[in-house]
Amino acid sequence: MERWSSRLVFILAAIGSAVGIGNIWRFPMIVGQNGGGAYLIPYFLAVVCLAVPLMILEMAVGRHWRSNLVASFGLAGRKLEAVGWLVCLIVLLILSYYLVITGWTLAYLVFSLLGSGVSFSAFSSSLQPVIFFMISVLVTGVIASLGVNMGIERIVSFMIPFVFLILLALTLFSISLPGFRPGMDFFLRPDYSMLSRPEVWIAAIGQAFFSLSVGMGVLITYGSYLKTDADIPQSALIITFFDLLASMLAGMVVFSLVFTFGLEPAAGAELAFSTLPRAFGLMPYGRVFSVLFFALLFSAALTSAISMMEVNVAAIMGQSGVSRKRASLFLVILLAGIGAPSALSYSSLDLRFYGSRILDLMDVSVGTVGLSFSALLVAIAFRWFISDDVLARETHLSRRQLSAVSNLTKYAIPIALLMITVAMIM
Ligand code: PHE
Repeated sequence: MERWSSRLVFILAAIGSAVGIGNIWRFPMIVGQNGGGAYLIPYFLAVVCLAVPLMILEMAVGRHWRSNLVASFGLAGRKLEAVGWLVCLIVLLILSYYLVITGWTLAYLVFSLLGSGVSFSAFSSSLQPVIFFMISVLVTGVIASLGVNMGIERIVSFMIPFVFLILLALTLFSISLPGFRPGMDFFLRPDYSMLSRPEVWIAAIGQAFFSLSVGMGVLITYGSYLKTDADIPQSALIITFFDLLASMLAGMVVFSLVFTFGLEPAAGAELAFSTLPRAFGLMPYGRVFSVLFFALLFSAALTSAISMMEVNVAAIMGQSGVSRKRASLFLVILLAGIGAPSALSYSSLDLRFYGSRILDLMDVSVGTVGLSFSALLVAIAFRWFISDDVLARETHLSRRQLSAVSNLTKYAIPIALLMITVAMIM
C-alpha cells in the first residue's frame, strides 16, 4: 500500500479536500443570510465540538487499520461492509454533481483566459456544461489513476499553496476597495436574534461537516496512507485552521466586490458565475482578476473532487482486487452516467424533475441529508465498535482530552446528526 511521502503532503491533501466550492461560495452566503457575525458562534462551536473530534476519529481509524472505507466498516462489525458501500454510494452521488460545478469553474477559467465574457444564462443554455463536466470527470479520473504519490501528492503540492496565494492577493486588493466596509458590515455585523432559530444551528452543523470533508470516509482513506509517527490531533487543528481561514478570506473578497460595484448579494451559482463576473467586467485589470478567481475556484474544486474519488477508488481496488487504473476507469464511466442528468439540468436541455433542476435536487438530497446521514453512520460505526485504547494509541491525547473526544464522538455527534437528518427530511 502506498504512503504519503511526508506529513506535510498529507496535510496539504486534507486541506485540498476541505477547501472547496463550499468555502468560496457557500460559506459567505450562509453567513450573510444567517445573522452575520452572530452565525460564527454556532459555526465555531460546530467545528470545534463536532467536526474536529470526528476528524480525529476518522484519521485514527484510517491509520489503525490501514484499510479502505468498506474494509474498515467490515473490521468495525462483521455485517457492516454493506454500510460502507452505502457511504461510498453517497460520496459518489455527491461527487457526480460536484464535478458538474467543477466543470463550470473550468469553463469560466477558459473564458477568462480567452477574454470572452459569457453570461451564465448563455452558458447554461448551451451544451458546454456537459462538455466541461466530462473533462472534469476525466481529469479527476486520470489523477486518481496515477495514485497517491504520483497523482494526488503532486497535484496538491502545487495547487494548495497556489490557492492560498491567490486568496491572499485577492484579499489584499479587496481591502483597498470602497465597498470593503459595507461588505464587511453585511458579512459580519452580528444579529444575535438569529441564534434563537434552530435552522441557523442546523445550517452551521451541516456546513461544518461539509466544509471540513468530515463524515464521508475521506479522512479514513487519506489517514490509511499516513505514517505511524505523524501527530493526528495537531494535523486536525492545522487542517481546520486553514479551512476556516479560506472561508473567512473568501467572504471578505466576495462581499467587498459585491458592495463596491453595487451588485445584489446573491446565492450560490448566481454569485460566482453572474454577479462576480459583472464586477470583474467593471474593474481595471478585471480580466486578470477573473482569471485568478476562477483558477482559485477550479483548483479548490478539483482537489476536493479528487478526495471523494479516492474514497471510491480505494474501496473498489481493496475489495475486488482490480488495479488502480481499472478502478479509476470504471468510476469515470460510472460518474459520466450518474452526473449526466445534473449536467444536463443546467444546459440547453434544462432537465427538471417536478419543476426543480436535477442538480439542485441532488444538492438538497445527497449533498445535505445524505451527508449528515453518512456522517451519522461513520460516527456510530467507528465510535461504538472501537475501543478507547485504539484512539489513545493513535492520538496520544491526554486523559482529559481523550475523554472529551471520546464522549463527543460517542454521544454529542450522533445526537446532533440524528436531529439534523430528521429535521431536514421533514
Ligand atoms: N469540503 C469540500 C468543500 O468545501 C466538499 C467536500 C465534502 C469534499 C466532502 C470532500 C468530501 O467544497
